[in-house]
Amino acid sequence: MAKNKNNQSVWKNRILKKNPTFFEKIGNSIDVDKRLFKEDIKVSMIHAEMLFKQKIISFKVKNKIIFGLNRIRNEIIKKKFVYNNKDEDIHMSIERRLFELIGEEAGYLHTARSRNDQVITDLKIWLKNNTKQIVKLLNFSIKIILEKAEKSVHVIMPGFTHLKNAQPISFSHYLLAYIEMFNRDKKRLNNNLDSLNENPLGVGALSGTSFKIDRLYTTKKLNFLKPSRNSIDTVADRDFVLDFLYAASTCSMHISRLAEELIIWNSDAFDLISLNDRIVTGSSIMPQKKNPDPLEFLRGKTGTIYGNLFSMLTILKGLPLSYYKDLQDDKKIIFDAFDNLSNSILLMNEVLKNFSANKTQMYELANKGFITATDLADYFVKELNYPFRKAYNITAKIVNYCEKKNKTFTTLTISELRKIEPKLSKDVTKIFDLKNSINSKKSFGGTSFDNIKKMIKYYKKELK
Ligand code: ARG
Repeated sequence: MAKNKNNQSVWKNRILKKNPTFFEKIGNSIDVDKRLFKEDIKVSMIHAEMLFKQKIISFKVKNKIIFGLNRIRNEIIKKKFVYNNKDEDIHMSIERRLFELIGEEAGYLHTARSRNDQVITDLKIWLKNNTKQIVKLLNFSIKIILEKAEKSVHVIMPGFTHLKNAQPISFSHYLLAYIEMFNRDKKRLNNNLDSLNENPLGVGALSGTSFKIDRLYTTKKLNFLKPSRNSIDTVADRDFVLDFLYAASTCSMHISRLAEELIIWNSDAFDLISLNDRIVTGSSIMPQKKNPDPLEFLRGKTGTIYGNLFSMLTILKGLPLSYYKDLQDDKKIIFDAFDNLSNSILLMNEVLKNFSANKTQMYELANKGFITATDLADYFVKELNYPFRKAYNITAKIVNYCEKKNKTFTTLTISELRKIEPKLSKDVTKIFDLKNSINSKKSFGGTSFDNIKKMIKYYKKELK
């Protein structure tokens, strides 16, 4: 509960009961929102400057407040600040200490503001900076992926649908798919900046204030772009929290897809990649084991981040306007999602640097499962001018024949092929070459080596 200098609550003259209630013990948010101390002090300083500029408080009072707030900031940074868990939150904690340091004049600071606008202002500032932080981390991921992709243009692997061999691809093309995903994540995170740039400070408890405040001044000084337009909505709105959580969930989902894919590829059954010792763990009983725990950790964390999104959506559902205590949990949810996501990206970056493609196995697997069947059907269309459906059916017959005779495309003789399609010329065998297949996919966005090289250049330029 909020206390002043004498360790009494701000509302002591209204609420007379003295003993701490159970709710006071469990209902405070100080342990979570103390993370906002820098933002809170900055917001208070700018608020005090504005009150002075508008002649609402005197020069002397303003200076005392700023002096006190500076000291409090230093105390917190130097870990000399004593958090009293009887303070409901960081705002009340700082206010109490301000009273201790500068006396009754501390009481001027809360003129023309409420914790309702104060807490969202702090949170928006924090979220804006930390959104940028995540975007930075994603840029590192993109850089690492690009470096790997550059070295892997000619590494051939099977592309899968339904986890069955589908068509041959370059390993680089696969890696670049993740750059697209992380670029979209960056965009989603940045989209939220529009809302994060609307300044809530000055809307008061919910209806604005009768003091002649200057919201444009605080907007500018706190690096917002404009003041929010409706005081009731401002206090009630947590859409910017949801937008962040949705962007975080999607990004985490992308990470989990990568993690799962690498887990499968690392399995003894697939053996398409090797993880080096930095990103595996051992077993307590099976001496031979090298387990991909970090990847499983990444896959699992997505569940926690989705949980954050669902918690916030549920808290907001049916909540009347404007502020209610329900909203207090928004900070814990945001911090959890941020911590989990930023740690996940950092860990993923480690993983990306510490695995390698097993080129031979990739190539061998790519040669299985009649992976060039589509190329063969396309060949019939191009060379013999067949409708695609006819070409598809002839190819299916050839595949069936191979299966029956226990052969692959490359071990078929031309006479066997001609029994099924008499018009075939000898050069058909080039169709079964994986490199040819990949290089033929020159359509924009396809896996041809040339396309990939162009895309790598494009992403590099974009990153600068
Ligand atoms: N600790 C509160 C929170 O984080 C601060 C806002 C309090 N406002 C109020 N009217 N109780 O949500």
